[in-house]
Amino acid sequence: MDCLGEWPEPVRRVQAIAESGSPVIPERYIKPLSERPGLEPAGSELGSVPVIDLGALRDGEVGLKVGEACREWGFFEAVNHGVPNEVIERMREVWRGFFALPLHLKQEYANNPKTYEGYGSRLGVEKGALLDWGDYYFLNLLPPALNDPMKWPALPANCRETIQEYSEHVLRLCKALLKAMSLGLGLREYYLQEAFGGDDVGSCMRINFYPKCPQPELTLGLSSHSDPGGLTVLLPDERVKGLQVRHRDSWVTVSPGPHSFIINIGDQIQVMTNAGYKSVEHRVMANSVLERLSVAFFYNPKSDLLIGPAPDLVAPDSPALYSPMTFDQYRLFIRQRGPRGKSQVQSLESKSPASSPRTPPNKLFS
Ligand code: OGA
Ligand code: NI
Repeated sequence: MDCLGEWPEPVRRVQAIAESGSPVIPERYIKPLSERPGLEPAGSELGSVPVIDLGALRDGEVGLKVGEACREWGFFEAVNHGVPNEVIERMREVWRGFFALPLHLKQEYANNPKTYEGYGSRLGVEKGALLDWGDYYFLNLLPPALNDPMKWPALPANCRETIQEYSEHVLRLCKALLKAMSLGLGLREYYLQEAFGGDDVGSCMRINFYPKCPQPELTLGLSSHSDPGGLTVLLPDERVKGLQVRHRDSWVTVSPGPHSFIINIGDQIQVMTNAGYKSVEHRVMANSVLERLSVAFFYNPKSDLLIGPAPDLVAPDSPALYSPMTFDQYRLFIRQRGPRGKSQVQSLESKSPASSPRTPPNKLFS
């Protein structure tokens, strides 16, 4: 990861731009016409992601529902997921508290593109790149060697313990989800967990803060991307919609209940399942009236394992679609280039899978 050093230019906090009160956004945030929100044909926002009650997650039928949602949508809304409402509310409260701190206190945690850990305002290190209307805080939870609460905010006072508590609950949920997802593919229930590295998985969290935007029609809070990791458990804002999911060439705005999670498949599961489950593009709209907070929890395979299609899902009539690569190598792409739709996982697609030698992974970054 040493090719990533410092940010290519001084970082501006979107929150500070928003608070300056200017009625126009800086040019760097203005997206090309084709990427701006609200240009979809009428009716494209109808429909919504499947809602799945996880109360009976041990039940085989829930596995089938989860499997169907992961195949059809790559996304679903989880209710009755077992994470206590009180923990969810406390998590939102501490992070609203963090982003409400004066700028100089947040700056103590300013991040760099080497690890991304800390307070950040951009993804990608290309000088002059267009930017998104959002700030974030990125932190590592697993493996234990990367879990360093000193890199998490000391304020608000209960921030660190709340992060730890929240993540213990969500980790449990992720393990249960991987079982359901394995069963939904007709695999043994521990199949995906083992393919992720058993007990040696990785996990990290990105708390997204989208300040009010005076011209939301010109920009995005987060550009279209698929998540690079395994599985994402998103805690959306309970008051402000904004997340849109691509489904059959239109953008569907997600409208979740107050304590629901939005679960989605990342690129690593798409690769492992040989595209049985899809990592789907999503993006976040900016909002002129309300600021928005979300917590994205990423559950990832052990970072130095080669991840390729599961042998049980490859057969003469369904050849391996992807060249194997470690997650460490894979995530350099988004860390260098920022969110770019599904271009990355597509770049792994073997040209003629049965015969040609596979592209050496490092070629993709040269
Ligand atoms: C992400 C993400 C969506 C949101 O952090 O990868 O897609 O609603 N977030 O903030
Ligand atoms: Ni995402």
